[in-house]
Amino acid sequence: MTPENASRELLEMARLAPVIPVIVVDELDHAVPLAEALVAGGLPVLEVTLRTPMALPAIRKMSHVPNAIVGAGTVLRAEQVSEVQHAGGLFAVSPGSTEALMTRCEEADMPLLPGAATATEAMRLLERGYSMQKFFPAEASGGAAALGSFASPLPQVTFCPTGGVGLGNAPDYLRLKNVVCVGGSWVAPKKLVETGDWDGISALAAEAVQTLSAVT
Ligand code: 3PG
Repeated sequence: MTPENASRELLEMARLAPVIPVIVVDELDHAVPLAEALVAGGLPVLEVTLRTPMALPAIRKMSHVPNAIVGAGTVLRAEQVSEVQHAGGLFAVSPGSTEALMTRCEEADMPLLPGAATATEAMRLLERGYSMQKFFPAEASGGAAALGSFASPLPQVTFCPTGGVGLGNAPDYLRLKNVVCVGGSWVAPKKLVETGDWDGISALAAEAVQTLSAVT
């Protein structure tokens, strides 16, 4: 898969909802009800971070949830790409990018959303063909003011800002013309996951859709 096609696919997914939930799964039993709750609330594109031993089995289970589009986040190493693929993950998100990771994703037909925090990083990715990028860590890198400043010199790049984004500041990002959606963990908070409050998570997702769809 070319980087251009990867970015095209990611852009299509990113247009499905204003938020991509960033998910940490500690217990496999949480995977399906969590995915169902987020999809029911209107957030179908789910990023499961490869930070726990349960992440890959969770991706496998969540990928069978109707209407869920499940990918992996925190993909750092090339060898993780085939693991994600075997688990049924449909895309990979990385906080940055490495030559090895990009090459492996391109060889394996795995759509990659690579991270960039500076103009130089965004330019390097664009030079390779990645026009859809994750702006990470968004708030710590200057927030919406910094990202908005990329729009004039780098109009070809569309971003999904992630890192420190919540319902309060998401509108600031979504109003930017170079932002298509945001990523964030606030719609799947650890406490609600641990207590199995799936209705609460659905409500957070629905609140995000309702509040943010008006902005995009
Ligand atoms: C992360 O690295 O966990 C993601 O960027 C999500 O960040 P958040 O928890 O600030 O939403």
